[in-house]
Amino acid sequence: MADLKQKSQPTSGLLGRAVFAAALVAATASLASETLDPQALKRLVHQDCGSCHGLTLKGGLGPDLRADTISHYEVEGLKTIILDGMPDTAMPPWRPLMSEEEAEWVARYLLNPEITE
Ligand code: HEC
Repeated sequence: MADLKQKSQPTSGLLGRAVFAAALVAATASLASETLDPQALKRLVHQDCGSCHGLTLKGGLGPDLRADTISHYEVEGLKTIILDGMPDTAMPPWRPLMSEEEAEWVARYLLNPEITE
């Protein structure tokens, strides 16, 4: 389960609480922990990203996110989109809800859904 108290960034109090609240709502644990939790991140991708991009990421309100479709992106580019969203579109920024490491994991996962950690 989440190790929210161990977050080392200076904003940890506020961010930690925001994440904790969001985690309760989404019933996803440990998004703010220093240790990556691949199972929780996979769930997030399919449920939270999936709510717009489709549960199998084939596209919905948001575009198809399957590895073949987004293979023109680098990990860094995807990470930036995930953290900052896409201005003037429905794609929201996830920075308040996940760390850079987690966003990078998600980017790598989208490019290669086979990865497990
Ligand atoms: C509220 C709906 C919504 C949610 C939730 C959402 N997205 Fe998006 N996303 C969009 C929309 C809409 C676009 C297309 C924006 C545009 O170009 O008009 C988009 C675009 C993207 C793109 C760019 C795709 C491309 O081909 O250019 C990526 C990558 C992406 N989203 C990843 C994610 C990830 C990862 C998550 C979960 C962490 C997520 N999105 C959650 C709505 C959403």
